Amino acid sequence: MNIDATPTRTLRADPARRSIDIIDQTRLPLALHWVRIASLEAAAEAIRAMQVRGAPLIGVTAAYGLAIALASEASEARLDAAIAILGATRPTAVNLHWALARLRRLLLPLPPARRADAAWAEAAAIAEEDVAQNAAIGRHGLGLLRQIPPRRGQTLNVMTHCNAGWLATVDHGTALSPVYAAHDASLPVHVWVSETRPRNQGLLTAWELARHGVPHTVIADNAAGILLRAGRVDAVIVGADRIAANGDVANKVGTYLKALACADNDIPFYVAAPRSTLDFACPDGNAIPIEERDGDELREVRGVDAQGAPSALRQLPPGEAVANPAFDITPARRVSALITERGVCPASRDGLLRLYPENFHS
Ligand code: MRU
Repeated sequence: MNIDATPTRTLRADPARRSIDIIDQTRLPLALHWVRIASLEAAAEAIRAMQVRGAPLIGVTAAYGLAIALASEASEARLDAAIAILGATRPTAVNLHWALARLRRLLLPLPPARRADAAWAEAAAIAEEDVAQNAAIGRHGLGLLRQIPPRRGQTLNVMTHCNAGWLATVDHGTALSPVYAAHDASLPVHVWVSETRPRNQGLLTAWELARHGVPHTVIADNAAGILLRAGRVDAVIVGADRIAANGDVANKVGTYLKALACADNDIPFYVAAPRSTLDFACPDGNAIPIEERDGDELREVRGVDAQGAPSALRQLPPGEAVANPAFDITPARRVSALITERGVCPASRDGLLRLYPENFHS
């Protein structure tokens, strides 16, 4: 994706220094600030504090975090301790656990002296796969978008939730990849961006769409229903943090409400995700762990003050009871189709079986 006309990735790896540079997403959309990660602890903290976020990027960062951890010592004990630290950061995005398991499978049989280099190479391979898979999602999603006649005028109106874009991946995004592909192919497209309380990841979506020049409008989450009912949306595309073997989808809290409103108004509701988000070991959505985040995300509103310094405003007393589930489950029956790097399929066991036969055992 372009950042002000320059093709840019969200993560820069420096193999010589055994470090990575990431964008501190807690400072966006008000400041674009790169941060160097050169230790296991810094990688874990960046994921936990959501300096990096979005399922695919969390997975890639964890893989590099493990490679960085092994640079100083690569015993089996160190490997497992580092995996435990990184694996405890965020529970719902399966990409994190998928990446760590992939590295462990590769590294454990190797002599310790070869593990650090092998880990770095595998982290780089995961990052490259992410870029290629998201580009393929863009091509498949564009095929779908081309088949949807705009309800009003010439412009296709796509609604999304949270940020499943460039910032949530190494490049291209998942839900936004078809949007960028459409825009780059001169298909007129406009994006309704829901704010995504309480962490406001929609503001990240608006920021990156603006950098690439894609027309968009930010809405409060609660405005989605009236737009969907009024025929002002042609399709909804969201990402996913985990897709169970039956096609149930875990994604940012609020996703389910959009799927329900789509069903009530005959609007297609698509979920775009790469292989690393599919959890074939998870039978259905009930088995997906839902992250419960700190209640202060609801009690406080964050932004910058008049001088531009980061600041927090309290909107509830510290003791006020709040619940803050970070994700919800959309049942497969409410998903019109999954868009993956291998193509488009129904959100069902059979649909996934057709695209990923090697992951199902009879
Ligand atoms: O809590 P976040 O911001 O990491 O949640 C992100 C989402 O829910 C995204 O929609 C999902 O990870 C897909 S990112 C391509």
